[in-house]
Order: sequence, then structure tokens, then C-alpha cells
Amino acid sequence: MNWLDALPLALIPTFGLIVTVLVLGFLYSSFSLRGRREPPGPRPVPLFGNLFQVDLRRLDQSLCNLSKKYGPVFQVFFGPKKVVVLAGYRTVKQALVNHADEFGNREITPIFYDFNKGHGIIFSNGELWKEMRRFALSTLRDFGMGRKMSEEKIIEECHYLIAEFEQFEGKPFSNNKAINYAASNVISALMFGERFDYSDKVFQAMVERDNESIHLTGSTSLLLYNLCPWLGPFLKHWRDLMKNVEDGKRDVRTMIKNLKETLDPGMCRCFVDAFLIRKKHLEDSELLNLHYHDDNLLYSVMNLFAAGTDTTATTLKWCLLYMAKFPHVQERVLEELSTVVGSRQVRTEDRKNLPYTDAVIHESQRLANIVPMALPHTIGKDVTFQGYFIKEGTTVVPLLTSVLYDDSEWENPHSFSPSHFLDSEGKFVRREAFMPFSAGRRACLGESLARMELFLFFTSLLQHFRFTPPPGVSEDQLDLTPVVGISLTPTPQKLCAVRRH
Ligand code: HEM
Repeated sequence: MNWLDALPLALIPTFGLIVTVLVLGFLYSSFSLRGRREPPGPRPVPLFGNLFQVDLRRLDQSLCNLSKKYGPVFQVFFGPKKVVVLAGYRTVKQALVNHADEFGNREITPIFYDFNKGHGIIFSNGELWKEMRRFALSTLRDFGMGRKMSEEKIIEECHYLIAEFEQFEGKPFSNNKAINYAASNVISALMFGERFDYSDKVFQAMVERDNESIHLTGSTSLLLYNLCPWLGPFLKHWRDLMKNVEDGKRDVRTMIKNLKETLDPGMCRCFVDAFLIRKKHLEDSELLNLHYHDDNLLYSVMNLFAAGTDTTATTLKWCLLYMAKFPHVQERVLEELSTVVGSRQVRTEDRKNLPYTDAVIHESQRLANIVPMALPHTIGKDVTFQGYFIKEGTTVVPLLTSVLYDDSEWENPHSFSPSHFLDSEGKFVRREAFMPFSAGRRACLGESLARMELFLFFTSLLQHFRFTPPPGVSEDQLDLTPVVGISLTPTPQKLCAVRRH
């Protein structure tokens, strides 16, 4: 007997209806109503989407695995929320650079909205974002971002960092805080016109808060909050984050207030001054001033401070960990530095004569892959990309892991191999797929500053110290497993900084 025969006759129309609805539902999820094809992806279950098919602790890796099955453009559902993932160098570049308008908006998740209420640079869109980003870039350039003036500030900070490391006299210590303070001070000098002593309590708290916030933002409970914002007050991580934001605002407001009180329009000392002078100029000339207000100043400063501190510091920590882990690589860096620079102060113009060292810094950035999914983007207007229709407002993840580990671009994607950036004669070569700063119109605004900082901090430290595991710990025992937040940081572990001379 056929199984359909077993159904009571009266139920057959109902059954048929259910099957039809399911089939139509399936067709609808694959093709939009106008017959346009949506990206493929694993089948979602109601309410939870594909949450059970991914490992939220290493989401980037789960998404890389899914891209092997579904290709370079696919969709997943986090709960009911659809997310389009871009994977592989070719696809990420094509989307972010060649379709910059469509792929260049920021996704403002509920937690990002809580941070900045749509103001500032990182979590804003439209004209406001355009104006704030343009202003920040040109002001930071005026203050020498990536040029001589910031070189001096970084070199000054190198001396403080070296002095801090020297205190441990080659014994094991955690370099975590000192590196955070050093990176933060470079931004502070640009933002507020002054650096802070590493023992300054307000400064310590600001750096600590940013560090913690970046970790909390990447936590699973914040993912849950983004799906169900009403849960916020019940989630400890959300409450902690909100407290950090409020405390951060209080401290930055105080600093802005002090600068306002001593403002001299004839002498611009820092980013805050430049903003206040522009605001005053617009007010005096009665020009329409939509964007130069206190909220945009506060949040832009907080954005630059947070984005500029943790990323650069984390990368430098990875560089030093790799040196302790791979002593043969470190030896070649030390040798090159000794031959080319000797004991004088290293400067940015030395970079072109230090190809191996440059390659090591690039390879550290590639393998450390500290911002594995960039920051989420959103589709600015309907687009058909690689034959798939993606609707305005859809969340997009540019999967940087899949670019930095793309096996069609890198010879040894999963191992530490400075030769990725060297030609057969040992000269430095740029690689197109080197994209730790992302690409397109939302690409990192601080790239040139970050590159200068990494080069000067790294080379200055290696001129002075050799980095080793603590006594009794072998190189093999050093742990390269990252701690996962919105960025990937090294597992806390002590290293020794042994004086070379
Ligand atoms: C090694 C250090 C750094 C890395 C790896 C890094 C990486 C990134 C990445 C991946 C993004 C997201 C791009 C996207 O959404 O597609 C980003 C955005 C951003 N970064 Fe960086 N960054 C670094 C240092 C800095 C520094 C030093 C500053 C400040 C001077 C900075 C300021 C920003 C800002 C303001 C944005 C938001 C840009 C926008 O939304 O328009 N970053 N960065």
C-alpha cells in the first residue's frame, strides 16, 4: 500500500497545502519574489537560523569552512537575521573596492548604536560619517600621521617602552599593559596633545576599559543581545559594557573641557583643538553646521582612541610572541638590524633597507589576523553581485581570515613564513592579498599611522632586546592560540626581554 493511501481522504487537501507552503517557502528563500537568485547557504531552522551549524567561539573559522561548501558568496542566518558572507581575496576585493558604494555602509547593530548613538566615525553612516571621516583623515595628516611629526612622537614613546621592559632585567614578565600604554600614548598625543605617564590612574583606567570592552563586544552574550536587545539589562556583559562606555565618556569629556578652556585658535595643539576651531569658524561665519557638535567630537575622539590602541598593541604583542617562538627568524632580524642600523635610532626611512624585518612584520600581521571578520558592513543599495541578488540593508561580513589565509594566494597560509613577502633575491614584495586593514571606503583610517608604529616599536625593541620564553619553557610550549573577542589577541603568557648589549 502506498503511504499516501494511509492518509484519511479528508486530510489530503490539508497535507497538500502544507507541502505546497513548504516548497514555496523553500523556493522563496532561494529566489526573491522577482525571480532573482539569492546567495546559497546552509538551510536555516526557524527562530535559530544556522546558529547550531557554526562555532560561535571561532565564528570566522566556521564561516571559512562553510565557504568551502557554498562558495565565496553565501548566506547564513544568525537567528532570524540574514548575513551575507564574502570569502577569499578576489571576492572581498571585488565587493569592497569595485562595488564600494553598495558594500561600503556600516552595519549599526544594537550594541554599536548603544556605543555612539549613530555619531562619530566607526559606527555611523551617510553624510555624517563622510564628513567625520574626511575631517579625521585630514586632521591626522596635518598632525603628521604617517609622516615626520608622528615619527618623533613614536620614537619618544619607544624610549619609555624600552625603559619599562628594562626594569624586568631579563626576567619573565607580561608585556601586555606596557604595550597597550605605549600604543595608546601615540593616539593620545594626537588627540589631546599630550602623552600620559604609564602610572597615571585615569589613563590606566581608560586603556583598561577599552581593552575589556573590545573583548566583551565579541562575546556570545553580546551576539545574543544584538538579536534580542530587550535582553540587555539581564546580561552582565551588556551592563559592564554600558558602564565602561559611560565612564569613558566622562573621562574624555573632562579632557575636552580642559582643552576648551585653554583653546587658542592661533595655535592648534591636537585633534580636539582642530575640531573646536572648525566648529567656531562655522559658527562665526554662520555657515550651516550640521556635524560639528559636541557629540561628534566626543565619539570621534573615543573611536580613534579605541581603534588606535588595541589593534596596534595586539599586533605588536603577536610580533614579539612570534619572535620568541621562532628564534631562527628573530636571529635574522637581529642580524639585519645590526648590519643596517647598528645602535643608532632606527627611523622609518630605514625600512627600505630592512627587507627581511619588513617581511617579518607583514607576516606577523597576516598570520595574527587580528580583526578576522573586519567590522560588519551593510548593503547600501540593492546589488547583484557574482550573479546573486543582495537586498539593501542586508548585513555583510568581509571575512578577512579567508583573505589572509587564502590558499590560492599564499604558499603556506597556516604557517609563519616571512618568505611570503620576499622575492628570490631577498627583496621585499608587496602582496595584494595582504589585507589586515580591510579595503574600500570603510578601510582602516589609521593604516599609515599603525604601519609606522609597528615598524618603529618593533625595530627599536629588537635593537635592545632578544625575546625568549621564560626559563624552563620551550619555544614549542609557547601558545599561539588566540583569545577571541572582536579581535584575536595572544593568550596571556610571560616572555623575557633579554638585553642584547
Ligand atoms: C595594526 C593596527 C590596525 C589594524 C589591523 C586595523 C584594522 C582595521 C579594520 C579591519 C577596520 C574595519 C574595516 C572595515 O570595516 O572594513 C578598521 C577600521 C577603522 N580603524 Fe583601524 N586598524 C589598526 C589601527 C588603527 C589606528 C592606529 C587607528 C587610528 C588612528 C584606526 C582607526 C580606525 C577607524 C576610525 C576605523 C573605522 C573606519 C570607518 O568606519 O570608516 N585603526 N581598522
